[in-house]
Amino acid sequence: MMEPAVRRIGVFTSGGDAPGMNAAIRAVVRASLHFGVECIGIRRGYFGLISGDFTKLDFESVSDISRRGGTILHSARSLEFIEEEGRMKALATCKLLGIDALVGIGGDGTFMGLLSLVESGISVIGIPGTIDNDIACSTYTIGYDTACNTALESIDRLRDTMKSHERCSVVEVMGHRAGHLAVSVGIACGATVVLVPERQVDLDHDVIEPIRRTRLGGRTHFMVIVAEGVPGGAYGVAEQIRNATALDTRVTVLGHVQRGGSPTSRDRMVATYMGHEAVRLLVEGKSCRVVALNGETLVDYDITEALSMHKELDYRGLSVLNHLTGMK
Ligand code: F6P
Repeated sequence: MMEPAVRRIGVFTSGGDAPGMNAAIRAVVRASLHFGVECIGIRRGYFGLISGDFTKLDFESVSDISRRGGTILHSARSLEFIEEEGRMKALATCKLLGIDALVGIGGDGTFMGLLSLVESGISVIGIPGTIDNDIACSTYTIGYDTACNTALESIDRLRDTMKSHERCSVVEVMGHRAGHLAVSVGIACGATVVLVPERQVDLDHDVIEPIRRTRLGGRTHFMVIVAEGVPGGAYGVAEQIRNATALDTRVTVLGHVQRGGSPTSRDRMVATYMGHEAVRLLVEGKSCRVVALNGETLVDYDITEALSMHKELDYRGLSVLNHLTGMK
């Protein structure tokens, strides 16, 4: 085996946690050991990098973590790191601990942080981990499949009771700026309609009128999926539906339940491949890359390029959904 280009990797999770992050951490640690590199866990994301909050990770310390939700390294959103002073402190931590490479698991914010360290000479690799699936360079982000299935399970339960009582259910799923989760969940549960932050709709024309039409056709229960970032959120949408139709309209906000739970096999596998690939790239002397999936193929992009890319919502999926529910 050739001499690895780095000696000690610091791995951390940052931003909103996602099921599968632990499998990625395990893969980074075990792959490091395989390639003859040391690995240190940075706790609490960039906050821990600034404050020097670390834990030594060895083969046994990551045993049996792949099936666990959350992240054993904890996560945080650090505002201090955006400032030059915060970054200086983070670099001092790296120097003190002898860290010459970092693997950050998270979203675009995490990658921007890594990019700001590139000039210091530390090698950096990003791994996409977020239930929002909103990393443009990657078809898939760690945690998405688990979150979709978690939301779906709750919605299936809701549908039972909404159908019994002939109600309209308005369910808010996560996604402040991105509607990917809402669209996937909406298609999978056979929602009446899905509202996303990326596409503004005329509620009267696009939601209330079609509900009336299908009500006249005999339908007595409705399932409206609203992404968190839609103006007014689920409560605002429900109020308008209730006022306009007099339907018994109930709101359920699924919230952080969607971020927890044991990861699905897809999330564990993608996380494992990505974690291993991140280390392989570092060992080969690569830096400033984001590991990504292009379809089912593992690829990597320059971080700057990755951050400039754009991911389209599944508009085709949205129109398939509309065709099948008789709403449009
Ligand atoms: O980025 C993932 C996400 O779950 C978003 O969908 C949501 O808007 C946000 O995190 C919530 O973050 P927090 O847990 O910090 O409130």
